[in-house]
Amino acid sequence: MTLHAPYPHGRPRRLRRDDFTRNLVREHTLTPHDLIYPVFVLDGRGRREAVASMPGVERLSLDLLLPVAEDCVALGIPVMALFPVIDASLKTEDGREAWNAEGLVPRVVRELKQRFPQLGVMTDVALDPFTSHGQDGLLDATGYILNDETVQVLTRQALVQAEAGVDIVAPSDMMDGRIGAIRAALESRGAIHTRIMAYSAKYASAFYGPFRDAVGSAANLGKGNKKVYQMDPGNTDEALREVALDIAEGADMVMVKPGMPYLDVVRRVKDEFRVPTFAYQVSGEYAMLKAAAGNGWLDHDAVMMESLLAFKRAGADGVLTYFALDAARALLGGRQ
Ligand code: PBG
Repeated sequence: MTLHAPYPHGRPRRLRRDDFTRNLVREHTLTPHDLIYPVFVLDGRGRREAVASMPGVERLSLDLLLPVAEDCVALGIPVMALFPVIDASLKTEDGREAWNAEGLVPRVVRELKQRFPQLGVMTDVALDPFTSHGQDGLLDATGYILNDETVQVLTRQALVQAEAGVDIVAPSDMMDGRIGAIRAALESRGAIHTRIMAYSAKYASAFYGPFRDAVGSAANLGKGNKKVYQMDPGNTDEALREVALDIAEGADMVMVKPGMPYLDVVRRVKDEFRVPTFAYQVSGEYAMLKAAAGNGWLDHDAVMMESLLAFKRAGADGVLTYFALDAARALLGGRQ
C-alpha cells in the first residue's frame, strides 16, 4: 500500500504550509483604510473621562481630541465619527440642542476640518444625546416616537452639521423617509458634496448598552427601548427593504448595525445591492472582547484582528470600530 494512494484528489493543506503561500492566496485583507474611528466628545477643555464599560475608550474634550485626530491621519484611518456627550442641563424633551449651530458638534467639526482637512469627519444624526428621555426622536403624548415631526428636526440637525463642514452625515435614528428628506434639504442648500452614510439596517439591540453609558443616555432611557423604530433582530428581508429605500432616497453608503451578530445581514446587503456597505462593531461587541482579553481568556490583538477581518469576508467595505487605532497600529506592524 502506497502512502499517497488514499489522497488522489487534493491536499488543501499544501497552501497552508508556509506564510508565503498563505499570504499569496488570502482572499480578504484588512487595511487601516477600512476603519472608521468612533469617538466621544465633551464640551470644555482638558477633560478626559474613562468609560467604565469600554476599557481603552475615553470621552475627550476637543483639545484632547486633536492629537487623536492627528493619530488617525498618521495611521491612514480615513474617517473619525463624532458622538457628543451633552451636559444634562442642555437636554430637553425635544432635543433642540441637536440643531444649535453653535452647539458642541458643529464647533468640533469646524475645528477638526480646519486643522485636519484631509481627515474625513462623520456626524451622527439622531436626537438621543440631546433628549431628556434618551430616545432618538420626538414623542407624542403616549410616548410613541413621532416619525414625520422627527424627520423635520433631524433635517435641521443634518443641515447644521453640513454647514459646519462635515464630510459625512450618518442618520442613526431609523425614522422612515429621513434619508430622502435630508438629501433634498442638502441639495436645496447647495451642499451637493455632503455624503450620507445611512444606518439602514439598525437593529433594536442590547449590544448598545455601553454606548448609552458613554453618551449618558442610558439613565434617561431607563427601562425604555427603541423597538418601535429600530429593527427586530429576527428579520433579514426587512433589512433589504430598508437598504433599498435608503439607496432610492439618496444614501451614498449603507450600514448594518450591530456587526458580529449580524454578518449574515452584511453579506445579504452586499450581494443584493453592490453599494458601499459598512458594519458597526458596536460598543457591546467591543466590551465583550475587551472583558475576555482583560481576563486573559482571549488574545486581545488576535481576536481584534480576526473579528475585523470577518467583516471584510462578509462583504463589508469598512468597519466602524473602537479598535480602529489599535488595529491600524497592529496592521502597520509597529512602524507608527
Ligand atoms: C444612537 C446611536 C446608538 C449607537 C450609535 N448611534 C445607540 C442607540 O441606538 O441606542 C450605538 C453605537 C454602539 O453601541 O457602539 N443614535
